[in-house]
Amino acid sequence: MAKAKDPTSVKNNPTVFVVFGATGDLSMKKIFPSFYKLHKNGLLPQVFKIIAAARTPHTNDSFTKTLEQLNGIENKKSWQEFVAKIQYIPLDIAENKNLTDLSTSLENFEKESKVCIKRVFYMAISQTIYESSIENLGKTKLNLGCQTHGEKARIVVEKPFGHDLKSAKELSSTLSKYFDEDQIYRIDHYLGKETVQNILAFRFGNELFEPIWNNHFVDHVQINLTEHIGVEKRGDYYEKSGALRDMVQNHLLQLLAVATMDMPEKFEAQSILAKKLAIISHIKRQTADEIAKSTIRGQYKNYTKEEKVNPKSQTETFALVRLYLDTIRWQGVPFYIRTGKKLTGKVTSIIFQFKEKGHKIFEDFWEQPLPNHVTLQIQPNEGIGIRLAAKKPGLATSLEPVDMEFCYKTSFDIPLPDAYERLLLDIILGDQSLFLSQEIVEESWKVIDPIREVWDAATPKLAIYEPGSWGPKEADDLIEKDGRKFLAPLLTICKI
Ligand code: BG6
Repeated sequence: MAKAKDPTSVKNNPTVFVVFGATGDLSMKKIFPSFYKLHKNGLLPQVFKIIAAARTPHTNDSFTKTLEQLNGIENKKSWQEFVAKIQYIPLDIAENKNLTDLSTSLENFEKESKVCIKRVFYMAISQTIYESSIENLGKTKLNLGCQTHGEKARIVVEKPFGHDLKSAKELSSTLSKYFDEDQIYRIDHYLGKETVQNILAFRFGNELFEPIWNNHFVDHVQINLTEHIGVEKRGDYYEKSGALRDMVQNHLLQLLAVATMDMPEKFEAQSILAKKLAIISHIKRQTADEIAKSTIRGQYKNYTKEEKVNPKSQTETFALVRLYLDTIRWQGVPFYIRTGKKLTGKVTSIIFQFKEKGHKIFEDFWEQPLPNHVTLQIQPNEGIGIRLAAKKPGLATSLEPVDMEFCYKTSFDIPLPDAYERLLLDIILGDQSLFLSQEIVEESWKVIDPIREVWDAATPKLAIYEPGSWGPKEADDLIEKDGRKFLAPLLTICKI
């Protein structure tokens, strides 16, 4: 039997992380706080250092003070121990300025520690400077890693990987000049979420669900990723991306893959990635006409008045895409994938609605049909719900829907780790199961590019929706034409 992964084995992995873009939002709000949590839980290597690198002039002290204030950390002993591991180096990776300071610092750390140290380069920088930055890593031979024992360096890149198939291939060819596939960690942070990982445990660790997880039993699936926030200060990025590239190409297609993939031969990276690839590469290609009829693009009212947004912008902040999978298991089952900003609330969930079969004997006892649902609630109120029909107590016979729920909060008295804690730990441990392969990235763009093309030709018309609503009416119309209804947020579970 394969051994379960032991996170404490991380201790024996001397590692140095170089975080480029250390003063950016991602670093300040996610990467550094997650490193701190790992430190508090004793889950960082014994020999460990973080080099925070960015253009902003900072001393170690002023940088860590900013981090401290931003994350509201009180001056605790554990924080002091943690910040002692951080060194700030002002440099410009895209312009190749001051990289010698970085090389010297890495070499000194290796000399002091007297061990070969794994170098990890975390590219928490804008996508627009990825290629020049990677080239500069190569030019300065930083990519070569620890010289003494040939410990291979690792590189971490964040979504979006390119903005279409062509640019994704270009990025990949730059990466592969200096790094092999086993050195590249492509992050989609949704895969680090505890509840997303639990989907595999739920599906393949129980005998109950696999036999009904197919088109004989499932009527359709709704995948929702709705947000309350707008574009905030990211107008310039969002204008080039829109909801389709920002959310559907990555997070939502990944959720689709995890929820529908076949059982991998083993619970390890290559088998899992192969099964996910088999889903994404089998998303049915649609003609331009079909795309126009099976998608809705929306924009929240006054989006065009947001900072750094074109006043005439046609960028979508809402997307609904109906997809089909060309596999024996899922043939004919529609997947409604919906995401949007400035909606009523934040819900990420995958809802399987089952077909109603053989319930004829109860036809007279319910007001409307009561199909079964399985809700995989990713966030908030993390959990899994199963909607059943039950007899309402009393002398009359009538059936009503009831929910059976497993809620993380009540079942486990343990706080859920942040996605980045898991992903950072896996990078140190060298486990690529929760990261994306280049093939998956490319197959995802093959789904998105044709939709983008149709949308860029202004079909269907951009539907404007009220902030605080659940999106444009056109989206409800689309699913209702199919004789169905959006279930989230109505079917939100674990309301505790
Ligand atoms: C990011 C998107 O990848 O995910 C953002 O760029 C979005 O637009 C965010 O807000 C949502 O992530 P989470 O973990 O807050 O659901």
